Amino acid sequence: PTPADWRRTDAYLSETLLERDDALERAVADQEAAGLPAIEVSRLSAKLLQLLIRIGRVERVLEIGTLGGFSAIAMARALPDGGRLVSIEAETLNAEIARRSIARAGLDDRVSVIVGRAADVLPTVDGPFDLIFIDADKESNTVYLDHAARLGRPGAIVVVDNVVRAGRVADPATEDEQVAGVRRGLEMLARDPRFDATALQTLDAKGWDGIALAVLAGSDEATAR
Ligand code: DHB
Ligand code: MG
Repeated sequence: PTPADWRRTDAYLSETLLERDDALERAVADQEAAGLPAIEVSRLSAKLLQLLIRIGRVERVLEIGTLGGFSAIAMARALPDGGRLVSIEAETLNAEIARRSIARAGLDDRVSVIVGRAADVLPTVDGPFDLIFIDADKESNTVYLDHAARLGRPGAIVVVDNVVRAGRVADPATEDEQVAGVRRGLEMLARDPRFDATALQTLDAKGWDGIALAVLAGSDEATAR
């Protein structure tokens, strides 16, 4: 398939399955206007995060990497009344754009954006969380997974974005530090008994990439194996 094929298919699936969400579209428009990169999750992936929140009866979400707030808004919209989302963002400008879009969506009562490097902020965050979405600098994925295992409740859902990187994850010739970080994260998900994980490739408007999905040990389901 060519990029035109998978973009057309992504558009078809999005148009067929998703309702237009003006808060999400405006967040993306503002992000672009502010010069932030267009690397938010796809609309269909955002819907997957929303479904995981509903399926898992998630009430508390931790996001690592806010960017312009697109995924935070999507996830916060799927939370029940009283739900909370904490999102950590290293770039002050990104956090400002995100906060504005979150407030405009009427979600500032349930979403807080903390500015700082996640490795510094995470030790100060209070859990437990029911879902942790890791979508920041890929070099630090193992650090973030370690915090996720500590801050997630037993049986919590962990999602890691960008685990395929146009196939470079499986290319032995790649020396990219981000890809090395992705690989270390996947190896940790495989070997560390706190996680039970899989990964799926995605081919969509964002190109060829993938997400890893894990459940934290400690729930009945995870310990029954
Ligand atoms: C890229 C995409 C992402 O979703 C991300 O979190 C970081 C980088 C990229 O395509 O470069
Ligand atoms: Mg990402």
